[in-house]
Amino acid sequence: AAGERDDGVRPESLEAIGEAIQACRKCPIGCLDNRAVMGEGPQNGQTHAALMIVGEQPGDQEDQEGRPFVGPAGQLLDMHLERAGIDRGRAYVTNAVKHFKFTMRGKRRLHQSPTAKEIDTCRWWLEGERELVKPKLVLAMGASAARGMLGKTVSISKVRGQAIALDDDSELWVTAHPSYLLRLDGDAREKQAMLFDADLAAVRARLA
Ligand code: URA
Repeated sequence: AAGERDDGVRPESLEAIGEAIQACRKCPIGCLDNRAVMGEGPQNGQTHAALMIVGEQPGDQEDQEGRPFVGPAGQLLDMHLERAGIDRGRAYVTNAVKHFKFTMRGKRRLHQSPTAKEIDTCRWWLEGERELVKPKLVLAMGASAARGMLGKTVSISKVRGQAIALDDDSELWVTAHPSYLLRLDGDAREKQAMLFDADLAAVRARLA
């Protein structure tokens, strides 16, 4: 299928993936001089989680702290998860791409979107995580996360709000990325926040 990649043997543990991604140089982002950010959770220390949440890539703060969704987008995500009654501490949270892609603007590191090819290259790790975590439900936030899960580009507005069957018994739900909400204001922000809440509520209902 599109976006397929096979490096042979899948890693046997999340720890092994965590180590391997630090050394991964299969795409230009991996060749930047920063660290990879591994997925995280659940808090009970087990590998298995009923819900896997997928973002795009670590941002500046995630790259510094080495944890996913701890910056502004993560804070917004936390607020909406709480509102929906979804416990982040029970979920596995990760990204489609494991390295922060940026360009320098003065002293600031500016986010750059990963290319389809970079996302497809990193799918190897994402699929490895999914195989180990065995979520019942995957929530992909934004187009990059959706591509990471599906190996093809989909339109968020067309596929959100419905279950997409994955190759096992699990299902994929697609929604907007919280960073997208952060870039909006006024009515547009409110409308997108409502849609985001509705998607999370649907996910919550499926998990129950
Ligand atoms: N945005 C993402 O997609 N992932 C993160 O971990 C942080 C911000």
